[in-house]
Amino acid sequence: MPTHDDVDAFLTETLLTADPTLDAALRAQHEAGMPAIEVAPVNAKFLHLLTRVAGARRVLEIGTLGGYSTIWLARAVGAEGRVVTIEAEPANAAVAQANLERAGVADRVEILLGRGTEVLPTLDGGEPFDLVFIDADKESNTVYLDWAARLGRPGTVIVLDNVVRGGEVADAGTADSKVLGARRGIEMLGTDPRFDATALQTLDRKGWDGIALAIVVTPAAS
Ligand code: DHB
Ligand code: MG
Repeated sequence: MPTHDDVDAFLTETLLTADPTLDAALRAQHEAGMPAIEVAPVNAKFLHLLTRVAGARRVLEIGTLGGYSTIWLARAVGAEGRVVTIEAEPANAAVAQANLERAGVADRVEILLGRGTEVLPTLDGGEPFDLVFIDADKESNTVYLDWAARLGRPGTVIVLDNVVRGGEVADAGTADSKVLGARRGIEMLGTDPRFDATALQTLDRKGWDGIALAIVVTPAAS
């Protein structure tokens, strides 16, 4: 009986083109000692396609890590597009910058160094983002969702990573701060009138997790 890893391998081999630039980016971030928590390739391509489906030209990413998902997003916005990505760890940002340069997309990506909670307010008043990918410290999910709505516009697409966490999200009694962050993020998406949202469970090479997808439905409060 095939396993979900076999399915992940089949889907990845069949639907994704071999890409030495992306392989090099992953090697660089793993060699730099980062945990292998970047989005799985099938998930990265999902994000990429979603960005293209939305026709997004301005993308905000919270949580750069080594820039793997950033490269996928940068390719999706095209040469005239822009990706702003926020990373708290300077060593990660340095690896990401090198990865973006190797991928030939550094000119359309700006890495902002600092914690999301510090950097996001500095983006207030700029052109709205068309798509926001939230993939940073899970404890701050609700803060990031609030900023995503503020920095977006009606129609802005929001993707929130890691909302299932091996199923633990369904445990109302959890004491795990990351699971609590996932739960609170989902609860906010379900109750805050600025969002219309759903979430999907995913099973890929990283295991059982999920992503929430939301759209901003009312103008951000100011
Ligand atoms: C973790 C963070 C992630 O963004 C991810 O995709 C998987 C795990 C974590 O911090 O545990
Ligand atoms: Mg993640």
